[in-house]
Amino acid sequence: MLNILKKWKGSSQTTKEETIVKADVLKGEIPEHIAIIMDGNGRWAKKRALPRIAGHHEGMKVVRRITRQANELGVKALTLYAFSTENWKRPKTEVEYLMKLPEEFLNTFLPELIEENVQVRIIGEKNRLPVHTLRAVEKAMSDTKRNTGLILNFALNYGSRSEIISAVQKIANDIKNGRIDETAINESLFSEYLMTNPLKDPDLLIRTSGEIRLSNFMLWQLAYTEFWFTDILWPDFTEQNLLEAIHTYQQRGRRFGGV
Ligand code: FPP
Repeated sequence: MLNILKKWKGSSQTTKEETIVKADVLKGEIPEHIAIIMDGNGRWAKKRALPRIAGHHEGMKVVRRITRQANELGVKALTLYAFSTENWKRPKTEVEYLMKLPEEFLNTFLPELIEENVQVRIIGEKNRLPVHTLRAVEKAMSDTKRNTGLILNFALNYGSRSEIISAVQKIANDIKNGRIDETAINESLFSEYLMTNPLKDPDLLIRTSGEIRLSNFMLWQLAYTEFWFTDILWPDFTEQNLLEAIHTYQQRGRRFGGV
């Protein structure tokens, strides 16, 4: 029996409050790959009469805390949806701010991430990223490429449908050039053409802020992933909430279509 101190408030998953002990979570199966749709920064700021960018800045600090916690728990990969291909539609000032955040994050925290053996990676269309953003993440990737701890994978200018189309185009091209035969196409080969290769598919997807949708995030990779949705806004998300998500995951029976 887990040593869990429960202080239930209400009955739904997202409103109940409980204290989950890290040592207990560590006794169960830790999801190898966790993906997070970090949502609610704007609403967090609005509630405090602050500009939306203040919510994004607070959200960046939460990224640091959750990365540390995930690494300490032995999670192997953490994929964070930081900017979608649709986010370009936001006001120019907000887009510019969001594109500066990876730099600020890495300028501030890269030495610590290196110390903690974290490996930084990105998925997404790099070609549309501002040079300063790309330079910062490429430096971080290069400085951490030999690290063997948590893979901190930022989805930056990422869109799943576009990723899938691009995989199809690459496969067609490889068939045309004789590099592969069309009879070789199967799920495993297709996965190798996705930007997430060689990461395994996420075991757990978390989305904050009460929205219950995928918003073009890892549509192929999430086929058998366990979902955990919470009303908590991303800037309010804590290490304890991560433990809660993992604890819920540990109680689920994953059957992958079997019985
Ligand atoms: C969605 O909330 C959030 C984003 C589009 C940006 C997420 C970015 C961060 C959390 C910071 C990333 C940090 C690094 C290091 C890259 P929203 O703005 O749509 O919130 P709303 O739905 O309440 O308006």
